[in-house]
Amino acid sequence: VTVGAVPLLVGAYVLAWKLRSPRWTFVGDATLVLTAGISLFTFAFGMVSNFAQPWPAGLGTWRALHLAFGAASSALLVAFAVARVASRRVQRVTCVTCVTSGGRSAACALATAMCIGWTGWIGGEVLTYHAGLAVAGAAGGALAPELGRSPPRPTDLRGAMGDLRFAWASIDTQLAAMVVNKPSDGAYAAVEGYARHLGQVASWMGTGAAVRDPADEAQIRSHASALRGRAAELENAARGRDLEALEGAFADTTRVCLDCHDLLR
Ligand code: HEC
Repeated sequence: VTVGAVPLLVGAYVLAWKLRSPRWTFVGDATLVLTAGISLFTFAFGMVSNFAQPWPAGLGTWRALHLAFGAASSALLVAFAVARVASRRVQRVTCVTCVTSGGRSAACALATAMCIGWTGWIGGEVLTYHAGLAVAGAAGGALAPELGRSPPRPTDLRGAMGDLRFAWASIDTQLAAMVVNKPSDGAYAAVEGYARHLGQVASWMGTGAAVRDPADEAQIRSHASALRGRAAELENAARGRDLEALEGAFADTTRVCLDCHDLLR
């Protein structure tokens, strides 16, 4: 909200100054007071993220910069708002739309906007998009269950691919989390479940139910059987809590996907 209000804030004060317009001054002042109030909430939620979010290593500088400039932005907005309200009082004009702001207010608005813009760039580009903090925060705090825990049995090849995609991506995510965080019983158990599901889909493909063109039948059956073998290896490695074997089996599994896609897709 703070970032979204900035164009209006700067535009209104610049127009008020250039056109000597009391109406644009009123727009600027109203936007400023509202934005300053809202930015206090924004800052409060920023503090919650700062303390409650598990921050990955290596982001220390950006985190500190975002915090410092976030605090500075809020302070600037509040100070600017207080100054504007005070200046209205001093001018003692009874009608709210008769005060006109000048170049100083426009300059203050621009300086505040630059501070907010820089804070927003760090928060949006660096922390949210590149470092994925919003996703991690949402995943950690979301109350919704995981998507597609028990997908329906496939009825055709594309349905089977959807199931494979789900199981494969879920295993990939669990493995990545174990490598960058730490191995955990929960993640091993999850991988075991996804690997079992992968094996079931591969078995279904091996029955020939996934064959669309008889010319492909042999390829489909042999790849399905290879996939079933890899899935069993994944399941065993997960049960044995062996991360290295698990990574190896996962790479082999992915190779089967690639081989079949190369041939038939
Ligand atoms: C037996 C051969 C075979 C194997 C093994 C295989 N695929 Fe596929 N896959 C295909 C074919 C053929 C298509 C194209 C289907 C189409 O376009 O209708 C496809 C398409 C897909 C699609 C796109 C589906 C869509 O909706 O367009 C995904 C996702 C996919 N495969 C994932 C995987 C993953 C993940 C694995 C390994 C775990 C895998 N596949 C293993 C044959 C295979």
